[in-house]
Amino acid sequence: MAPLFHALDAWDPAPLRRALVRGGYTQESLKQLGLAGTAFQGRAAGLFRESLPPGSPLKALVRLFMLGDSVAAADLLGTLGVDLGSLADLGLLTFGAGQVRSNVSLIPYADSWYASDFMRMHAEVPADYVMGLSPVTRLLVALSPKQRVDSVLELGCGGGWLSMQMRRAGINVTGIDISSRALEFARFNERLTGLSGIEWRQGSWFEPLGDRRFDLVCCNPPYVQSPGGPLTFREVASGAEQTCAHVLRHVAEHLNPGGIACVLLDWSHRNPDDWEQAPLEWAPSAGVRRWLFQLDSRSPVDYAWLWVRPDPRFSDPESASAEVKRWVAHHAAIGTGAISSGFMVVQRCEPGQEWTRCDSRTTGEIPSTANEEVVRVLTNETWLRTEPSDADLLQRRYLVPNGVKTEINTTLGDHGWQDRTIRLISPGKLSYDGQIDENLMRLLELCRKDRCPADMVAELRTRPEFDGIPDLDARIAALTRELVRFALITPA
Ligand SMILES: C[S@@+](CC[C@H](N)C(=O)[O-])C[C@H]1O[C@@H](n2cnc3c(N)ncnc32)[C@H](O)[C@@H]1O
Repeated sequence: MAPLFHALDAWDPAPLRRALVRGGYTQESLKQLGLAGTAFQGRAAGLFRESLPPGSPLKALVRLFMLGDSVAAADLLGTLGVDLGSLADLGLLTFGAGQVRSNVSLIPYADSWYASDFMRMHAEVPADYVMGLSPVTRLLVALSPKQRVDSVLELGCGGGWLSMQMRRAGINVTGIDISSRALEFARFNERLTGLSGIEWRQGSWFEPLGDRRFDLVCCNPPYVQSPGGPLTFREVASGAEQTCAHVLRHVAEHLNPGGIACVLLDWSHRNPDDWEQAPLEWAPSAGVRRWLFQLDSRSPVDYAWLWVRPDPRFSDPESASAEVKRWVAHHAAIGTGAISSGFMVVQRCEPGQEWTRCDSRTTGEIPSTANEEVVRVLTNETWLRTEPSDADLLQRRYLVPNGVKTEINTTLGDHGWQDRTIRLISPGKLSYDGQIDENLMRLLELCRKDRCPADMVAELRTRPEFDGIPDLDARIAALTRELVRFALITPA
């Protein structure tokens, strides 16, 4: 396929950036109009068009870059002006009969823009389609720890969103993708964003790396459990090895000692209960700590519908239903009972320090600070494997992260407010979400005030209801151990 952009290295992105700001094509101004995001694409695009100020430069830019419309060149002259010609030379725009079309979707995010293929291209040039910014990519950014990281590898970097977030934090970044088209987008995005120095490499997974190692490896692979299909960005051809399996099998070989890999996954399994098996088989356990997290699990038909419903190739009911049947037949043939979504964190460690932990929790939107919780889980689980004694647990001081929250629920009954329950949620929403009691709240509070769990034992002993409980120490030590395990406190 012909290159998308021409002479990208010589292109000065400053005039385009200025023009986009001048035309109001920023996330902020779209937000003010109540139109932020890309949700208005596809079938709702007409509504979106109607809600823009008529004749405004913003309307012309939204139609050009967000909706993929042909726009009269005259409507763009006020904003893109003489730069229209150079943007056509670059390959961003195409002219014809007084009309201009953009060859790529360009969406404003924060203080910049992100280029990818238009959604409709999904149906037109499937194999090379480059996806836009998705919630899943943001999830991977949120999970990936940046602290004390000098080098990052992004496997399957696509348009380069995660690589750019890491570069922005001053980290050395290498982005690998098999698709030359994806790497063209990545280079364009890097220039448009005003970043530089990311090493973009074309190749399959680890192949271009030799024995290079990194502090952090991140991967949002083509993990969709489909019957096989042509879309390189999301699935593998029928019969090919699962990409998640391949990445997990080899990722530890490219980690520095103590280095962390964060890999998003979907995987098929036989029964709802045997969800841990496949990913643990893929990631070798020698010399690594493994944390497998299941975020969701669906039946094959629900899963098929999740992917087929938004797919522009199956917008009419007949083709959508035939496609769902194809997926369901495939999963019946291979004995799939459920399909899980989640992630695995792998940390390279010395032999003898390995552990494996599996958690399952449905969470709402994971906050951007979740990576701090990932680090806390790795640190705490490793510390717990040293089997600290009850006395050690009770005498220690602990750090309590910011953002620990409780929700208290009561029901008004005949005897007043009753059935009080307290739900505690960890700040990253990963390590804990469940019911607790006042004693646990108090223990957390004491730890936060730089007191130790032994102070809690002393406090309880002054209360008559705890008088005569001989194993109070052991009970509070056990509670403390749980708090460490749930990363709500970390040994100072
Ligand atoms: C789900 S997309 C993620 C893209 C990007 N990281 C993001 O989150 O927006 C998966 C990416 O993996 C790339 N990919 C597929 N097969 C690959 C392979 N064998 N080696 C390297 N990258 C591959 C695709 O081209 C695609 O860009």
